[in-house]
Amino acid sequence: MLYRTHTLSELRTEHIGQSVILSGWVASRRDHGGLIFIDLRDRHGITQIVSDPAKNAEIHKIADGVRSEYVLRAEGVVRARPDKMANPKLSTGEIEVLIYSLSILSPAKTTPFEIEHPEEQEKDVSEELRLKYRYLDLRRRRMQTNIIFRGEVIHGIRDYLHDHGFTEVETPMLIKGTPEGSREYIVPSRLYPGNFYVLPQSPQQLKQLLMVSGLDRYFQIARCFRDEDQRGDRQPEFTQLDMELSFVDEQEVMDLNEALMIALVETLLPHKKIKQKPFPRMTWKDAMDRFGSDKPDIRFEMEMCDVTDIVKECRFEVFRKAVADGGVVKALRVTGGGSFSRKVIDEYTEIAKTYGAKGLAYFSLEKGEPKGAILKFFEKGEIIKLIYKTGARDGDIVFFSADRWQTACLSLGNVRLACADTMNLKDKDLFSFAWIHEFPLFEYSKEEGTLVSAHHPFTHPHPDDLPFLMQNPEKVRALAYDLALNGCEVAGGSIRIHDSVLQSKIFEVLKIASEDADRRFGHLLRAFEYGAPPHGGIAWGLDRVIMLFRDEKNIREVIAFPKDQKAKDLMLGAPSELPEAQVKEMHVHVIARRSL
Ligand code: AMO
Ligand code: AMP
Repeated sequence: MLYRTHTLSELRTEHIGQSVILSGWVASRRDHGGLIFIDLRDRHGITQIVSDPAKNAEIHKIADGVRSEYVLRAEGVVRARPDKMANPKLSTGEIEVLIYSLSILSPAKTTPFEIEHPEEQEKDVSEELRLKYRYLDLRRRRMQTNIIFRGEVIHGIRDYLHDHGFTEVETPMLIKGTPEGSREYIVPSRLYPGNFYVLPQSPQQLKQLLMVSGLDRYFQIARCFRDEDQRGDRQPEFTQLDMELSFVDEQEVMDLNEALMIALVETLLPHKKIKQKPFPRMTWKDAMDRFGSDKPDIRFEMEMCDVTDIVKECRFEVFRKAVADGGVVKALRVTGGGSFSRKVIDEYTEIAKTYGAKGLAYFSLEKGEPKGAILKFFEKGEIIKLIYKTGARDGDIVFFSADRWQTACLSLGNVRLACADTMNLKDKDLFSFAWIHEFPLFEYSKEEGTLVSAHHPFTHPHPDDLPFLMQNPEKVRALAYDLALNGCEVAGGSIRIHDSVLQSKIFEVLKIASEDADRRFGHLLRAFEYGAPPHGGIAWGLDRVIMLFRDEKNIREVIAFPKDQKAKDLMLGAPSELPEAQVKEMHVHVIARRSL
């Protein structure tokens, strides 16, 4: 072995006396009364090597010259550390290696930020610098752990799915547009001027075609591309665990994914507690009504309730009018919220307004007395009913949102999350999963002025709602399901339409003309004419899952080479201009330029 006989986490007291070869990076170098101690680091751990000038002066000179992040190769003999010098924090802490040969495999410039010793607290470094020198950032312990952990999750997924009859299939990257709803990345074709490939937003249509092919169960660790606004949990390029199954219903897809998720958490994250098994399943309507979210965080209770009936005839104009206009009044009781300051309540009001609310009314209970500016508009009987319905007790506050149902739910749901933050209710070691299903099949798009698919147009309508598909499409529920984890949407899927007649009807509702449908999805419609099995599937946002598994706040922390918040790769310097000849060859005419 040229470079190493052991990794840097392997040596123990049982190796004492053995000659070993080690290689790695210099994590630190200390000069102690003539002896030089070097902590050598690799992805596995740290081993201390020692140079003694009395034993070998030439080697000592090399050791004296090494600096942080140099790559070294050392040969030496394992010996016990003196008792007091043992380091219980290191797996190799009871030994050290007295070296008799040392070579510098690669010197290192001073790094633009410190790669802290794995035992030290991580230092704050600007994200810009970290992304620019990502290869150095990835040397830091937290990032190494994240990336290695990510590999383990994927390994676990592959093992599990292979054991459950799935075939891993790679689908192409250069495809034709799919209607997942985001803007697409396009690739000009050199051979066919004026024509473009599109990078997949997901392998949706291809995986459905694999079911028509009889593959039965497919999965892929699939790269997806979406040109959408960046947020902490979004990237222009991200990874899904994508799967599709034939001859299944909703329950079977959920059951299998739930079992896989539990297996991963229990093997890889034994310190995490899953709040409820089996995962609770609730309809979208129920989730919105109770938690004001389609991805509820149910680590904590704090459920909302509907008080429309109580206040519909009250003297408070705001409430009465909202109800008269066909809206609702929702209430949220926050235990102990009576102590919220005016400032905090104002912040919550702003949050409610961001989600479309017109305001945030409230009262509190103090020493048995209801307090609040809105109370003057209510009869005693109404106040008692409100207290009873919301379950408010001394020291609590009750917030109200009066609006259209969805706005009232969403705005109060976000106030709920903010209250949980204020009150520290989000236990980070608790995993609370929930399946949300029976989503609406369509939603109204203001921008487009028409109905659009809430998920995608291949989602099967709920069989009970088929009779009013054409007359009252907004009421139709979908056989679609999402998995939420601690308030984050980590997966989504559906049972698909496998019948070209029904699929055409959906296009009709969506006002996609048949020629247009044929141009965009003709391949799928044709495929369904040759014997398509009932099928369904799901895709996990793998980056988000791993982010939550690792307690990170941002998916960039679990992606080796992410884009920044402005969709730039700061390390590679992408996107970038190209030589004119190359652009011309692609038949592209640049009509605007903006430097990065
Ligand atoms: P959907 O669009 O819901 O479904 O995506 C599935 C999951 O992918 C994650 N996700 C993202 N993660 C990071 N960055 C993004 N920009 C991003 N967008 C989505 C989310 C989401 O739950 N083809 C369907 C799946 C199916 O029906 O089987 C699809 O792509 O966690
Ligand atoms: P106003 O009558 O506008 O002064 O509002 C009185 C209180 O009701 C304030 O606390 C507002 O934030 C709140 N409020 C106003 N509109 C609504 C609404 N649609 N739902 C809930 N509270 C509201």
